[in-house]
Amino acid sequence: MQPDLNPYSPGSGRRPPAIAGRIVELEAFDTLRARVANGLDDRGIVLTGLRGVGKTVLLNEMHRLADSFDWLTVRIEARRDEAGAHSVRRTLARELVASARKHNRGSLARTMRAALGTISSFNAKVGATGIQLGVDLNTGRADSGDAEVDLLELVEDVATAMAERKRAFGLFIDEMQDLDPESMGALIAAQHAANQRGWPFYIVAAGLPNLPRVLTEARSYAERLFNYRPIGKLLRPDAAHALRDPAEKRGVTYEDAAMELLLDATGGYPYFLQEFGQAAWNLAPEKCITQADARSAIQFGTEALDAGFFRSRWERATRSERRMLYAMAADNEGPSPTAQVAQRMALQASSLGPYRAALISKGLVYAPEHGQIAYTVPGMAGYVNRHHDELDSEA
Ligand SMILES: Nc1ncnc2c1ncn2[C@@H]1O[C@H](COP(=O)(O)OP(=O)(O)O)[C@@H](O)[C@H]1O
Ligand SMILES: [Mg+2]
Repeated sequence: MQPDLNPYSPGSGRRPPAIAGRIVELEAFDTLRARVANGLDDRGIVLTGLRGVGKTVLLNEMHRLADSFDWLTVRIEARRDEAGAHSVRRTLARELVASARKHNRGSLARTMRAALGTISSFNAKVGATGIQLGVDLNTGRADSGDAEVDLLELVEDVATAMAERKRAFGLFIDEMQDLDPESMGALIAAQHAANQRGWPFYIVAAGLPNLPRVLTEARSYAERLFNYRPIGKLLRPDAAHALRDPAEKRGVTYEDAAMELLLDATGGYPYFLQEFGQAAWNLAPEKCITQADARSAIQFGTEALDAGFFRSRWERATRSERRMLYAMAADNEGPSPTAQVAQRMALQASSLGPYRAALISKGLVYAPEHGQIAYTVPGMAGYVNRHHDELDSEA
């Protein structure tokens, strides 16, 4: 069928035609929203899962909802390779100023004027953007240069102004496990202070499954600060909706057997559902997707994932790092005990350290627990096994 009408959306962070199977998570956010509107407190939300399960899509949806409820929101994405705390402060300042502009309307309450002044002085200190908010700097607030102190003052002033309107200050952070330790500590401390003092400031974050551990290692009380929500593959009926609904809207149906084949092949992983759904649509000659179409789509979709999703990751690894990825594949989806991986590579456990660290910083593996290692994407073991003959090709 015509690719230009194809409703599926494979790709990192791409909004799917429908957000299937995430009602519980969206309800958790709605509860937070409703409590804020009632002047009650709640906890921030942390979404965790492997790559491709739909964390970014869900985070963006919560962000969109927060904006539509007139919260003051900021969205940032943490990166490992960036210049650390300073660059986070600059991004935060720039985004805060942009977001604050939207709240700079009508006659301003005293607290809102003060909040805009504090945002301005924070921005002036880090020199992030020349955009002006047209209020006096709140000199002496959020401009000390100390990450923790400044963030706390920002949160206090902005959240206090939002509280008056029964709204909140929402900070949406993607890939939070990659945040530098200084910003991580400052953010958790700010959330902690906000919870204790009843300021409506909420961090809504997404990250790999090790994020809860990273947070608690930064500040032990982080364990109680957030509503932790692991997300994974979709339940079979939800996965079926994710495939069927967008097609039906365009008058296209799936034969039952075709649907079963596709559900088995995708394992219910959102990314794979979009990739295979896209292939099925493009390959089907008629408006009913048959079993034969589904078989071709699985073949084509697998090849497409191998050539893109998996390969782009594999190619980031050096030859020695690929050996480590291969040694992990013996445990399938894992996790693998690091000691055993070292043994398979005929290395001392201590010699594995640099490869492990490099693969973690490239986002290919993560440590679910101490002494363990696992792939960040589902299906990686299968790819590695299919392609390990390329182990020695140039990286
Ligand atoms: N609930 C969902 N239902 C159907 N498809 C989804 C859903 N969530 C995400 N997707 C699709 O899955 C893919 C990965 O989503 P993304 O949010 O980037 O995942 P993550 O951030 O966990 O790596 C995208 O192609 C997106 O369209
Ligand atoms: Mg993501």
